[in-house]
Amino acid sequence: MQHRPAWAPDEIDIERPSVARMYDWFLGGSHNFACDRALAEQAMKVFPDAPHVVRANRSFLYRAVTALCELGIDQFLDLGSGIPTAGNVHEVASAARPGARTVYVDSDPVAVAHASALLSGTPSVSVLHADLRDPDAVLRDAVRAGGLDLSRPVGVLLVSVLPFVPDADDPAGIVAAYREGTVPGSYLAVSHGTNDYRPKAVGEVEDVYANTTQPGVFRSKAELARILEGYEMLPPGLTDLIHWRPEPGALESDPLNGDVSRYSLIGGVGIKR
Ligand SMILES: C[S@@+](CC[C@H](N)C(=O)[O-])C[C@H]1O[C@@H](n2cnc3c(N)ncnc32)[C@H](O)[C@@H]1O
Repeated sequence: MQHRPAWAPDEIDIERPSVARMYDWFLGGSHNFACDRALAEQAMKVFPDAPHVVRANRSFLYRAVTALCELGIDQFLDLGSGIPTAGNVHEVASAARPGARTVYVDSDPVAVAHASALLSGTPSVSVLHADLRDPDAVLRDAVRAGGLDLSRPVGVLLVSVLPFVPDADDPAGIVAAYREGTVPGSYLAVSHGTNDYRPKAVGEVEDVYANTTQPGVFRSKAELARILEGYEMLPPGLTDLIHWRPEPGALESDPLNGDVSRYSLIGGVGIKR
């Protein structure tokens, strides 16, 4: 029987793997249980580069938030924010734009508990326990509890979370609702695993993730482009993540030396006109 640490909320099943805790393990974090580690190791048997992939994903998050700050964005809605780790959105944003506001949203109780404990008392940061598939409720609470000002542009982040929104839940409709709920000049940053390069291997990863609380899917670039319709993508468009405004020499932006198939990760940043 797994020991339940003090930081684990009572309501969670610590014998059932969670996407947020597996991701934490891939990043070298300590908020995970034996079941998460075992399933993450199983995923690595079919996709050994997973730890590099998640680091490249975090690097994109850093580059995208920095770029949005440079474009004048000073409030962020981070949907599926995960368990806090190095280089969190509010740290990147407030370094680039002091006073920037960040609202973190996650449906995973450990992610929310850990973020709340770590960030309580941090000015300009709020943590919401919510399901991003309910955009009306999330936007309402981001205003009421999180202090977002929806009369001004917002940077909405969907970084490695749309894979956990199956087609049956209408990801395009959800993205459209966030777009409609924000003013022109708002942005959306997205990253997503793709099945364009190695369909067999990523299909096996999907089989592994079917054992978690939030099964995930990989999508083609064409499918993701359809989900993002209505946003105008900034240069270089929807692309392999390591090619989205790379910072040559930056730590962990391309640990696999340019082999996009080993990442199987795409994304970009769009603006609402
Ligand atoms: C792979 S992690 C990505 C974390 C972070 N965005 C990043 O890229 O580093 C996916 C996160 O999305 C969260 N998530 C999945 N489905 C969600 C939903 N419907 N609503 C809110 N959060 C969700 C998971 O709990 C997990 O923390």
